[in-house]
Amino acid sequence: SHCFALIPAAGNGSRFGAALPKQYLTVAGRPLIWYAVRTLAMHPRIRRVYVVLSVQDRLFDTWDWQTEFPGLAVLRCGGATRAMSVLNGLRAMAGEVAAEDWVLVHDAARPCLSRHHLDSLIAGVEHDSVGGILAIPVADTLKRSDAQGRIAATAPREGLWQAQTPQMFRHALLLRALETAVSREPTDEAGAVEALGLKPKLVEGDASNLKVTWPRDLRLAELILSDRGT
Ligand code: C5P
Repeated sequence: SHCFALIPAAGNGSRFGAALPKQYLTVAGRPLIWYAVRTLAMHPRIRRVYVVLSVQDRLFDTWDWQTEFPGLAVLRCGGATRAMSVLNGLRAMAGEVAAEDWVLVHDAARPCLSRHHLDSLIAGVEHDSVGGILAIPVADTLKRSDAQGRIAATAPREGLWQAQTPQMFRHALLLRALETAVSREPTDEAGAVEALGLKPKLVEGDASNLKVTWPRDLRLAELILSDRGT
């Protein structure tokens, strides 16, 4: 079976507070989303990269992606939530992707994904019956707050992981999982698969695959990318 990548990029980046959706913020001269597209499109195991944009998106086409990534497929079928965008993307891919093919769903907002991260995920998951995700063990002590901003409990961090993307599942399973779970707005693909009673595999990644949520994250992403010479 083959591997495909799906990048949901139909968010408006409201938490970030910029005028632009964060996937279009400039990082070292390129739109943030360019980095994830590049790393996925260059990986030898990934047959094709699909990007899901919102129907109103006018920014993706201001960059000449056809020249740089001729095989890239752009789907203008973003939904109201991330899960809806992924579900719409999976439906639109169905003609070209077989039920047993792998789909690696990756956030546009994780620009520091590397070839090495992809190698580990694919090697760790491709013989698995469920699928799996990149994740890192939680390093901090976690506190649960009460309504007054005081500590109500300390969550033992043993066995706790921070989920990242890509998240890698077979097309048919992921489609079924999201069709079942989409109304509950799962925040990742694994959550939807777990709701079917399955246990996705954790593949240990590293903290460099950070998610750009706040402006300070953008500076850090720039540092990581420039250290690698990209
Ligand atoms: O907002 P958040 O950081 O969780 O978004 C994660 C990814 O999901 C981003 O790449 C964003 O563009 C995408 N997204 C989407 N459709 C939505 C909301 C978010 O494709 N309705």
